[in-house]
Formats: sequence, C-alpha cells, structure tokens
Amino acid sequence: QPSTAEIAALIDSQIGLEGPLLPILHAIQSAYGHVPQVAAPLIAEALNISRAEVHGVMSFYHDFRDVPAGRHVVRICRAEACQAVGGAALADAALERLGVAWHGTTANGAVTIEPVYCLGLCACGPAAMVDGALLGRVDFDRLDEILTEVGA
Ligand code: FES
Repeated sequence: QPSTAEIAALIDSQIGLEGPLLPILHAIQSAYGHVPQVAAPLIAEALNISRAEVHGVMSFYHDFRDVPAGRHVVRICRAEACQAVGGAALADAALERLGVAWHGTTANGAVTIEPVYCLGLCACGPAAMVDGALLGRVDFDRLDEILTEVGA
C-alpha cells in the first residue's frame, strides 16, 4: 500500500504545472498502476477542490482506475467501425467468458477487461489490444485462445 508521504511527493512534483490535476493523476497511476483510494483526499486538499471533483475527473477519463488491474489488460474496441463487424458480440462473449463486467478483473487476478473507443485499426475490426499489443480481425476463437494464454 503506497504511503501518503509518497503520494504527497508525487502531487508536489506536478503541482506547479498549469492544470495540475491530470498530470498528478497520471503520475500516481504510473507509479502504482492505479490511483489508490487514499490519494483523492490528498489531491483534493492540495488543489483546493472537492473529492467529488477528483472522482469526477477520474471517471471521465477512462484511463484512471482506483483498484489495481489484473496481470494482463485486454481492451476491446467498442467504437462504430468495429461494432459494425461484430465487435459487440465479441465483447459480450469475452465478458461472459471471463465472468466479469467492463473494468472487471477475473477472480484469479489474471485479466482485466476494458472497453476502448477506437484503436485506429478500423479497417480490420473487430480490434483489441492485449497488454499494449494491437490485434485486428479478432474473432471469438482467437480471443478465447488469447484469454487462455494469459491465464483467464
Ligand atoms: Fe475499432 Fe477504430 S473503430 S479500431
């Protein structure tokens, strides 16, 4: 568990920037892989804003998470071009296969699944990203293989 002193130091390192909230959240998330619950009140106090504002910004930008991710992160494109070629069915099948909802992590901690809105692979949808690697034309068999490979 990150200490409040460590988090305060990260806040301090970004607070001089104009519009420091996003850089602070990014700094904390890149240090810990998530923005721990204890960070919100510290950030709110440092920036003289409410905790609700901190949480509002965190949920607006889908990049931030308040609990640690699984060992692998699978993102499935939910934007239009991918939806038109079976992305929705692929996503539904993946959620069912993992037994979690969006942003959820499998009980064994292996995989977190996240929606993403266009990966720039629109011509080869449905698109997905596994630990930062882009995959095009993903069908369920392929996804199932990948999920098995990463331990889900
Ligand atoms: Fe899915 Fe662009 S719409 S990659």
